[in-house]
Amino acid sequence: MSGLRKLNMMDFTTLIPVREKKIESSPEEKLPELNAYKANRLAAALHPKSQKLIVSDVQILNDSAKLFTLCPDKEAGIEQLAYFSAGQYLSFTLKIGSAYTTRPYTICSSPKDALNGKYQILVKKVSDGFVSEYILNNWEKGTKVVSSGPLGNFTYEPLRDAKSVIGIAGGSGISVFYSLAKAVKEGTEDFSLTVLYGSKTEKDILLKNELEELASGCEKIKIVNVLSDEKKDGFENGFIGADLIKKYAGTDSYSVFVCGPKAMYDFLEKEIPDLNIRRKFVRFELSGISKHAKDYKAFPCEKEGTYKLTVICAGKTVTAECASEYTLLSALERNGIPAPARCRSGICGWCRSRLLSGEVFIPEESDGRRLADAQFGYIHPCATFPLGDITLEIPPVN
Ligand code: FES
Repeated sequence: MSGLRKLNMMDFTTLIPVREKKIESSPEEKLPELNAYKANRLAAALHPKSQKLIVSDVQILNDSAKLFTLCPDKEAGIEQLAYFSAGQYLSFTLKIGSAYTTRPYTICSSPKDALNGKYQILVKKVSDGFVSEYILNNWEKGTKVVSSGPLGNFTYEPLRDAKSVIGIAGGSGISVFYSLAKAVKEGTEDFSLTVLYGSKTEKDILLKNELEELASGCEKIKIVNVLSDEKKDGFENGFIGADLIKKYAGTDSYSVFVCGPKAMYDFLEKEIPDLNIRRKFVRFELSGISKHAKDYKAFPCEKEGTYKLTVICAGKTVTAECASEYTLLSALERNGIPAPARCRSGICGWCRSRLLSGEVFIPEESDGRRLADAQFGYIHPCATFPLGDITLEIPPVN
C-alpha cells in the first residue's frame, strides 16, 4: 500500500504517447505465426477447441451400458490427445437425423491414459435419452467422432478439498470416481478415496471387477457397493445417507463428492446437513440435473404448454415451437437449429444467449449465470424452460 501511495498517477498519462512512438518506429517485418511460440503450442495442445477421435474398442458392460475407447484420428491429422484432470468431461457434437446436439461424458480413463493416446467414456442408456440410445446403437470400432477439449471442474483440489474423499456414485456417475481412483493409484492424485456406489441390484453395478482390481493392494482406495433392491452378504443395503457416510468416513476431516441421478441429489441434500461438515467440503457434479421441468418443485405447472419460439442468430430469424417441459436448448436442437453448448447443466456459460422477450423458468440449482447476466436478460438455454412465447438471440456455433 505504501508503495502505491508514492505512485504519481500523472505518470500514466505519458505512457500512451511513449507507446505510440515505439509502435510507429518499429520495423515493418511481420510477427511470427502464433504457433511459432512454445507457450501457444502448449496452450493449444492442452485446450483444443475440438478433437477428432476414432472409436478403437467397444466393451459391453451390461444390456444398457458400454465402455468406449477413443484414440486420436490420425487420418485427420490428430497425433495426440489433450491431457486432463481426473473428473473432467468431453462434450461430443452429434448430428442425429436433422437434429444437431452435444452431450457431455465424463472421461473415465486416467490422465496417464491420455498421454498414451487413449480416452474412455462410459455410456449408459437413460430413459427417453435419444442420444445415449443413438451412441449405444451406432458407435462401433472405427466410428469417427468429434469432441471438445477436456472441460469441467469436478476435480480434486488439495487447497480446497480434504485429504480424504467420500465419493458417492449412482449409475454411470461411477465414471468420475473410476478416473479419480485410477489417478490415485497411478500417483497423479494424492488423497484417499472411499467410493459408496449405489445400484439397484448386483448385476447393475458397472465396472465392478475393474474397481475391485483398482482397490486391491492400494490402501488409499476403498469401494463399497450399496444395493437398494437386494440384500446380499458383502454389500451394504438401502440408500446412501448420512449414517452410511459416517460409517466409512472415519474420524479425520473429509470431503464428499457426489455424481449420480437427480433423485440421489435430492435425497442427499437432506442427509448432508447431518454430517456437520463445512459446505466447501461438499461437491455435486451437475450432470445429474434433470432436463424435465416437472421434476422441479418450483415449476409453475399452470404454465405448462407449447409456445412459439423466435430465434435470432447472426442476423437471421427463424421460428419454431418449444414445450415448457423441455429446456430451450432442447427445443433449438429438436428444431435443427445449431446452438453452442458444452456442460448442459447451466454452469459453463457456453450456451449464453439473450432473452429478448418472454417468461421463463430457471431452476435455482442450475442457475450458473453471473449476477450481471441475470440482470441484463441473459440466460443459459440448457437450464431454462419456456413459460410463454419466447424471442431469443443465440450466438452462432463456431
Ligand atoms: S451448455 Fe454450459 S451453461 Fe449451457
